[in-house]
Amino acid sequence: MGLIEVLCNTYGPTGREHRVREIIAKELSGFCPEVYTDRLGNLIAHRPATSKRGQKIMLCAHMDEIGLIVTYIDKAGFLRFTNVGGVFAERVPYQRVVFENGITGIVGIEPSKDGSKSAGRPKFDSMYIDIGARDRKSAEKRVRIGDIACFDQEVVYIDKKRVAGKAIDDRIGCYCLIEVAKRLKKSIHDIYFVFSVQEEVGARGARTGAYAIDPTYAIAVDVTDTGDTPEAHKMQVSVGNGVAIKVKDSLFIANPVIKDKLADYAQALSIPHQFEILEHGSTDAAFIQLVRGGVLSGVLSIPTRYIHSTSELCDLGDVNAAVRLLAHVCERGLGKG
Ligand code: CO
Ligand code: ZN
Repeated sequence: MGLIEVLCNTYGPTGREHRVREIIAKELSGFCPEVYTDRLGNLIAHRPATSKRGQKIMLCAHMDEIGLIVTYIDKAGFLRFTNVGGVFAERVPYQRVVFENGITGIVGIEPSKDGSKSAGRPKFDSMYIDIGARDRKSAEKRVRIGDIACFDQEVVYIDKKRVAGKAIDDRIGCYCLIEVAKRLKKSIHDIYFVFSVQEEVGARGARTGAYAIDPTYAIAVDVTDTGDTPEAHKMQVSVGNGVAIKVKDSLFIANPVIKDKLADYAQALSIPHQFEILEHGSTDAAFIQLVRGGVLSGVLSIPTRYIHSTSELCDLGDVNAAVRLLAHVCERGLGKG
C-alpha cells in the first residue's frame, strides 16, 4: 500500500489524530532533524536554516477528518450521534463508520413521517448508528458516550491518476508536506512543517502552532471545491488542471505578494496551476495569518470533488504540481527578491 492509501485509510477524526501523527512522524524521521508534538497535538517537523539570511516559513496541513460523536445510546442498543466538523447530513445515511477500537457501525435513518422512502433532507436527529448490539447494555460494552466514529471507506484508484477516499481532506495535504520534506535537499530558509489538529472545528491547532513558531510566512495546503461536475455551482477550479492558488475564501484573503510569488514560481517552472475563490469554507491559513502581529499567508489547494463525503476525489497530477511548487518555495523563500 502506498503512503496516500495509508494516510487516508487511517482513523483520525478531530481530537483523535494520534494514529495519523505516528505515521507521519515515522515517515519524517531521518528527513527532519527535529520532530516534536506540541501541547494540543500538532506534529511539527523542523528543518533549521543554513544561513542567517533565511526566512522563517511555516507549511501547514491538517491531520484531522470529520466524524460522528455518540451522544446517546437507546434501550435497543442504537447509538444517537451528532457531527464533529462539517458533516453533511444527506451524505451520511447507509454509510459504514468505524470507531477507534475497530467497532464497525452502519448509519440507519428513521422512515419519514409521511411514509415515503426518499430521505428528503435528513437530519442527524432522525439517524442512528447500528453496531449490531441487542440492547443498551451490550452496546455500552463496545462503545461509550463521546466516542467518535469516522467514515469507513478504503482509498480506491478510479483511474491511474484519480484517487478517491475518505479523508483526502486533508491527508493529501499531509502527503504533500511529507513529500516536500523528503525531497528538500538544502535550503537557507528555516522551514517548519506543521501537521495540525482540529482544523475541521475551526483551525484550533494551527493557531497555537503558528503562535509558538512565530513565522514570517505561511502556506497552508488543503483541498478545495471544484466547478467541474454536472450543474455545479460556477467556479473556475477543476480537477486535473493543476494546483490551485487561493485568492480568497470565506475567512481569508491571500496576501497579494505571496499569491503572486506562488503564481510566478509556477509560471517559471511550467507547473500547471489555477486560481481559486472558494465561496463557502476556509482553512488553517485564515487563523495562522491572525496570530501575533500577523503572518503573511497563502494557500495551495488540491482541487477535490465530493469534499466531506466517503469518496473525496482528486488527481495525482495536481498533487504533484503542489509538491513541486512547495519544494521550490522552500528552496527560494517567499520574501522579496
Ligand atoms: Co475539511
Ligand atoms: Zn481540510
